[in-house]
Amino acid sequence: VSPVWLPGDPGGPERAVAGKAVQSIQTSLERVAKKQLKDRARGGQTAGVQDYGQPGHSQSAADAAKSADLVVEAVVENLELKRSLYRQLDSTAPAGCLFASNTSSLGIAELAEAADIRRLHFFNPVPVMRLVEVVRTPDITEAAFNQLLEFSRSLGKSAVPCKDTPGFIVNRLLVPYLTEAVRMLERGDATAEDIDTAMRLGAGHPMGPIELADYVGLDTTKFIMDGWHAKFPNVELFKPSDMLNKLVEEGRLGRKTGQGFYKWD
Ligand code: CAA
Repeated sequence: VSPVWLPGDPGGPERAVAGKAVQSIQTSLERVAKKQLKDRARGGQTAGVQDYGQPGHSQSAADAAKSADLVVEAVVENLELKRSLYRQLDSTAPAGCLFASNTSSLGIAELAEAADIRRLHFFNPVPVMRLVEVVRTPDITEAAFNQLLEFSRSLGKSAVPCKDTPGFIVNRLLVPYLTEAVRMLERGDATAEDIDTAMRLGAGHPMGPIELADYVGLDTTKFIMDGWHAKFPNVELFKPSDMLNKLVEEGRLGRKTGQGFYKWD
């Protein structure tokens, strides 16, 4: 899309958010470029972040969708916000444009009245995590499903097909595990540091569960568990955690707010 905003441009809160997003994409690209391109030279010059192209940005969803083949929506898990966004996207997107939501907890049928939404589920940090869950929603055509598989593979990811069940594969296993670790901490069975060290060294996980809950966002973790608890109130594993609720209430949401269970720089 054509840039309507440039980093460094003063402006309102939307611009500040757009600025942060662009900055974070650029930092991420630089990390990827540094890793992948460090030994490659082109025309006597070392290849760099420019080899990946510049990310476009726009403050208008309707403008951004005008020439899109595929839209991957990944805004915060708020149904009304997502609905309003899909209305804007749907007003200008070309016929045949595929809409895919990254939502991990909302029902696909609720998301939009008009637009036909698919599910593609990426993982944090997206540039590093090699998985995409491609969800077989009941009404999806074979052609649309295959397009999503192909798109995910074209990004260099492994695409795993799965059914449209709560949490799909990863979150159904991961989110209860993170919450169980919080309950362990709540009971005083072990410290946060010891739980994390144990799972890193004893189970070979790159991050321990308490650190990972901070990384994913405590609000996100709570939001997913609350949704499942409302749907399945008798499942012990989905019951709320007082400690998690308290931290979220205090605005300690993890890495994104600089503090959760841990302090983050
Ligand atoms: N962008 C680009 N590259 C990045 C990056 C980012 N945001 N974050 C890390 N990297 C790259 C680094 O450049 C680094 O590359 P080098 O090996 O060349 O140095 C590499 O990834 C490893 O990074 P670090 O050395 O900084 O740190 P690390 O080795 O501790 O790895 C981690 C960091 C990849 C985040 C790792 O700790 C990890 O895999 N953690 C678990 C993440 C996880 O489980 N994610 C799923 C969350 S669940 C979810 O997302 C779904 C949901 O809906 C809740």
